[in-house]
Amino acid sequence: MYLCLMHIDIITVLPDLMQSPLSHSIMKRAQEKGLLTVQVHNLRQWPVNEYGQVDDYQYGGGAGMVLMCEPLVNAIEQLQKERAYDEIIYLTPDGKTLNQRIANSLSLKGHLLLICGHYKGIDQRIRDHYITLEISIGDYVLSGGELAAAVLTDAIGRLLPGVLNDETSALTDSFQDNLLAPPVYSRPADFRGWRVPPILLSGDPKKIEEWRHEEAIKRTEERRPDLLKE
Ligand code: 6GU
Repeated sequence: MYLCLMHIDIITVLPDLMQSPLSHSIMKRAQEKGLLTVQVHNLRQWPVNEYGQVDDYQYGGGAGMVLMCEPLVNAIEQLQKERAYDEIIYLTPDGKTLNQRIANSLSLKGHLLLICGHYKGIDQRIRDHYITLEISIGDYVLSGGELAAAVLTDAIGRLLPGVLNDETSALTDSFQDNLLAPPVYSRPADFRGWRVPPILLSGDPKKIEEWRHEEAIKRTEERRPDLLKE
């Protein structure tokens, strides 16, 4: 019926944490339609010993464990035998900050491999030799890359053609044209005397479009003037 537009593999030490955010609403529908496939891989499938070890102390001392080279290389190279990746992405607070432009551009790719760090992160040599893109989802620290990988997958997945319908179209999203989205209202037209702007009830599509555009500019000037300078 549909052909798969995007395949995303995710390597993590917490596969269960990854499943739930991608199993609802639009991400669920994208996968059911076969437009997006997401495969979560437990790094512990590639341990260095019989105890299932995948992390170790860092050289030079200091608190916090580091995901070791060997399990990550074995995982990446096994997955690479099955697929040629357009990008191998490491989710990390010191990566490039995710924005709509990056999400748009990644949504045009076919195969992505996402690597989630945990604890202190991954051995630098993996970053040097395998990672092609490093992404952060904002200037704050999370316990690991899993939630960031879920955020990135959602931001990309909803842009794939056929995932959204007219009602949920990405064209009217905030950021799509560097403008925040205008206010929205639903029934009733008068709730406790709080009225919906009359123009939205006018039935005049041109006037409504103009109003929405003005409101979007107003809102962006007030809240995110930086977007208007980009
Ligand atoms: Cl990608 N990972 C972690 N651990 N923290 C973050 C992040 C990523 N992006 C923002 N904070």
